[in-house]
Amino acid sequence: MPFAHITGWGMAVPDKLITNADLEKIIDTNDKWIVERTGIKERHIAYDGQTTSSLAVEAAWKALAVAKVKPAEIDLIICSTSTPEYMFPATACLIQDRIGATKAGAFDLSAACTGFIYALNMASQAIRSGSLKVVLVVGAETLSRFVDWTDRNTCILFGDGAGALVLKADETPGGVISSVLHSDGSGADLLSIPAGCSKNPATEATIRAGLHYIQMDGREVFRFATRVMAQATREVLSSAGISIDDIKWIIPHQANLRIIEAAARGLKLPLEKFVINLDRYGNTSTASIPIAICEAIKDGRLQKGDKFVLVGFGAGLTWGASVAQWTGVLETEQMIRPTYFRLFARTRSFLRRLWLRIEGIVWGRKNS
Ligand code: COA
Repeated sequence: MPFAHITGWGMAVPDKLITNADLEKIIDTNDKWIVERTGIKERHIAYDGQTTSSLAVEAAWKALAVAKVKPAEIDLIICSTSTPEYMFPATACLIQDRIGATKAGAFDLSAACTGFIYALNMASQAIRSGSLKVVLVVGAETLSRFVDWTDRNTCILFGDGAGALVLKADETPGGVISSVLHSDGSGADLLSIPAGCSKNPATEATIRAGLHYIQMDGREVFRFATRVMAQATREVLSSAGISIDDIKWIIPHQANLRIIEAAARGLKLPLEKFVINLDRYGNTSTASIPIAICEAIKDGRLQKGDKFVLVGFGAGLTWGASVAQWTGVLETEQMIRPTYFRLFARTRSFLRRLWLRIEGIVWGRKNS
């Protein structure tokens, strides 16, 4: 049975920053309160024209370059997101077109901030079953487009960004070992965007009431999060038969420093064992875990052979955890030229659009 290795990684965040001092100018808040209650100091915010797929594509190109994998080798693209570009088509299909993943299937996965753990589990199971060889897993968000910038309960928390991993089949032991996934829809109304979908389609009234923005019962979400983080970590370790002493790093969803501290207390682990970067990014939802993985690899914290736990929670309610062993980039003789692939993808996309038009005209005439 092949193992599902993490052989490529990449992240992308917008250059534009909103600091706590910037927020002080638009809402009744202050840096001291935000840092004490959340640990967040700044967040990256997409500028006009930057979208969920453009951030995802940037992260994906980086991950493919690290893995030395050609876009045409990808079997499946899973884009985990709560802020897709459209209700449909799936953002994953936009990524497929932009990177020229000629043979890939593509779909979006909606499990809010736990989405990346769900997506990683789906991808690794497909690889371990032998049905797929290369899967691109992306977590991407532009939450700033769904935040009410006059609501101090939510706008201080969220940021934009994307992270991508390339998972590849290999016979060497390692990679994603085990995952646990949970949900509890009875808490659906604790964190939601109530309007804009089929129950409450966008109308003048829904927009006036701000129902197209994130609505959150912060205290209840906090209580739920502190309960499930340690629990899910213990559960995934037990399912994998791995002792917590063998875990080098816990990479948690980055929502609130106090939630991570509670998880550390619950697991009786020092906070130093946790990869934390929410001070610089805020809560980027499903992108927060892959962004933290990228940073932990970049700064050398995550070393080849290290076992680590990913653990998250979010709207749904959803929560879950994965345990993995990082074995570094899988050796390959393959040379790849990222500039060539970008040019190929752009040209291919243009020609395919043109071809669809021509086909439409020809078939339209024939059938009329
Ligand atoms: N600046 C200053 N004061 C604020 C504030 C802000 N941005 N937001 C709320 N306050 C005030 C409240 O009005 C309240 O004042 P009051 O006591 O006079 O009524 C006080 O601070 C405490 O509010 P409370 O909501 O109890 O704060 P809290 O300690 O629970 O922190 C959150 C609020 C949102 C930071 C916290 O509940 C949280 O992080 N929850 C989880 C949210 C989350 O992770 N969501 C994403 C899930 S993936």
